[in-house]
Amino acid sequence: MPNVWRDLPRPIHGLAPMEDVTDTVFRRLIIRWGRPDIVFTEFIHAGLVVEPRGKRPGLTPRLVHSPTEKPIAAQIWGNDPEQYARASLRLRDLGFDAIDINMGCPVPKIRRSGACSALIRNPLLAGELIDAAKTGGLPVSVKTRIGYDRVETEEWVGHLLCQGIDALTLHGRTAMQESEGPVQWEEIARAARIARAMRVDTAVLGNGDVMSRDEIDSRCARYALDGVLVGRGVFSDPFLFAIDPARTGFAGLSDSDKVAMLCEHVALYREVWGATRNYEILKKFYKIYLQGFADPTLRDELNRTHDYASAESVIGRWFATRTEPTAVDAR
Ligand SMILES: Cc1cc2nc3c(=O)[nH]c(=O)nc-3n(C[C@H](O)[C@H](O)[C@H](O)COP(=O)(O)O)c2cc1C
Repeated sequence: MPNVWRDLPRPIHGLAPMEDVTDTVFRRLIIRWGRPDIVFTEFIHAGLVVEPRGKRPGLTPRLVHSPTEKPIAAQIWGNDPEQYARASLRLRDLGFDAIDINMGCPVPKIRRSGACSALIRNPLLAGELIDAAKTGGLPVSVKTRIGYDRVETEEWVGHLLCQGIDALTLHGRTAMQESEGPVQWEEIARAARIARAMRVDTAVLGNGDVMSRDEIDSRCARYALDGVLVGRGVFSDPFLFAIDPARTGFAGLSDSDKVAMLCEHVALYREVWGATRNYEILKKFYKIYLQGFADPTLRDELNRTHDYASAESVIGRWFATRTEPTAVDAR
């Protein structure tokens, strides 16, 4: 079976998983606008992979993906090895290229369930979950942090690297830090050094506060990493993964081009999800596409909508008052 982590060219430019953001719709758009080397699903409980619930019979929305989203890793969470084993078989059958295990989410309710970042304090169970995730034969990676309430890179990463994982993504903060304080890239570099010293075949990726493609490359060179996953950087630049150095960047687009991108997002979201996913989730994207607008009226009006049709008519009215052409489709 091909191993995506081994085969991807270095440095790896990956789109980090983000709940209610990196669904199949946003992933497809980010791929069209910039082409990251790998994408991930939003995290999904292993139990839901094997016993789907929801309005779409058969496939939980978080597992929906299209053929353009390649390679793609399904990110799972939970603390039951039996569920992981069954989930790994289903994810293989659904065409995923890899499985990523979330051992980093710091949300208190989730931590208290003993899953995600709580596994930093339960290394034995973490090892059992990794073993179980290998059942289906897909490459297995872990996304985690440099410690729980203190920096413990050496012990925690050393333990994970003994489990035969194909990749490790390290966010450079502890679980207790959540998103506060500086990202400790020296700790991420330390993890990469440990992997080299142990002579394991595990790709080591860093994560945290990276805002551009150049920054991905410079972090990888400086800290000797295999790659970087970028999350929130795409909020300020949806073209972040684009290679073309001549591009103006998102900030250089006209208002009309930004609204054209927003329209594309609304249309694809409507086509893919219709009534099966909450319309309100779309509103966080309005904020992204309309950044830099001097006049807040469009954003305010869109934030007052509660369905696709109203959003489309607000956008239609806005375009009717414009004269400049849009260039997004020409890029
Ligand atoms: C809205 C949001 C949702 C997130 N959901 C997930 C998730 O489902 N799985 C995961 O591993 N990390 C999740 N994260 C964490 C990101 O993947 C990433 O580690 C974090 O944002 C730091 O990277 P960044 O500074 O590049 O954004 C989420 C982050 C945000 C902001």
